[in-house]
Amino acid sequence: MTAGVDSPLALDALAGLWQDPPTLPVKWLYDERGSRLFDEITRLPEYYPTRRETEILTARAAEIAATTGAEMIVELGSGTSTKTRLLLDAFVAGCDPGGSRISYVPVDVSDEMLSVTAEILSADYPDLDVVPVVADFTEPGLTLPVANGPRLAVFLGGTIGNFTPDFRVEFLDRLAAALAPGDYFLLGADLIKDTGRLVAAYDDKSGVTADFNRNLIEVLRTGLDARNLYADDFEHIARWNPAEHRIEMWLRTRRDVNAWFEVLGKAWHLPAGAEIHTEISTKFEPAALAAELASVGLPAVAQWTDVAGDFLLTLACRRESP
Ligand code: SAH
Ligand code: AVI
Repeated sequence: MTAGVDSPLALDALAGLWQDPPTLPVKWLYDERGSRLFDEITRLPEYYPTRRETEILTARAAEIAATTGAEMIVELGSGTSTKTRLLLDAFVAGCDPGGSRISYVPVDVSDEMLSVTAEILSADYPDLDVVPVVADFTEPGLTLPVANGPRLAVFLGGTIGNFTPDFRVEFLDRLAAALAPGDYFLLGADLIKDTGRLVAAYDDKSGVTADFNRNLIEVLRTGLDARNLYADDFEHIARWNPAEHRIEMWLRTRRDVNAWFEVLGKAWHLPAGAEIHTEISTKFEPAALAAELASVGLPAVAQWTDVAGDFLLTLACRRESP
């Protein structure tokens, strides 16, 4: 759908596309098609994070429910909430019959995905209050709904890795401020590993990640009513940045691009070989991540990896004073 000149997409495009290198906030990868493509990515043989995090959640969900005793689970960037079902099952199973109901608050920018998911979850979990919220979790003023008991904020999939280091600290600070002492935070993070496996996970043989990345051009084309802008003119690039220990996704022009954005009233010229920066996916080291969490008042109470040591779940508790 075409957006107006003062729409969030238009403002982000104006702020990012004429920068060197051109860039856009990562959330624009998740329109309806992008969300479906990401879901496909999670099932690719090369994309291990979802399977590894599922393995950890399968082993630890009951322990997480018992430790936190949370009455509300707020999940940021919930997507299809597929893995979250492991947590929901454990919380519902551990709930006192006749006691207070557990609430699940999935938060996502992808409104289509969120509403379909919430409807299915409400039908599948009659004992759970499912309260979906369409919101951008990178916006300042992040607040969490009020609950009668402890709350558990959940951020799965390694989405924390999609933030720059500076923004990660800002985000964790805001989240710590939004949590009350005694609330918990469950964080999924991908770990540093063999470069070949990492690059393959972001440049799969079947080209689904390439389509996911190139879909950003479709988002710009349709959202900003662009002329002469074609996704096929862009090549998907995934490369490892060892200094920043992160995978970077780029789109490289295959030929000169001379596009026109009707909504912005602006031309966009890119020479052949120019690169647009579309996503970072930082990989972590457990102790360093625990130290980062502790520094904002969220000390880890447990850290778990899968058997292969590929992925990390950290359960942190909001300290009395940050
Ligand atoms: N948690 C799921 C999905 C991860 S994909 C999993 O682990 O598989 C990242 C999710 O975050 C997508 O559903 C996307 O729509 C959402 N997202 C990305 N940027 C966002 C933002 N700024 N605010 C809210 N949701 C966002
Ligand atoms: C959502 N996020 C954690 C994914 C990741 O692995 O960084 C997004 C993704 N990009 C390409 N493949 C998956």
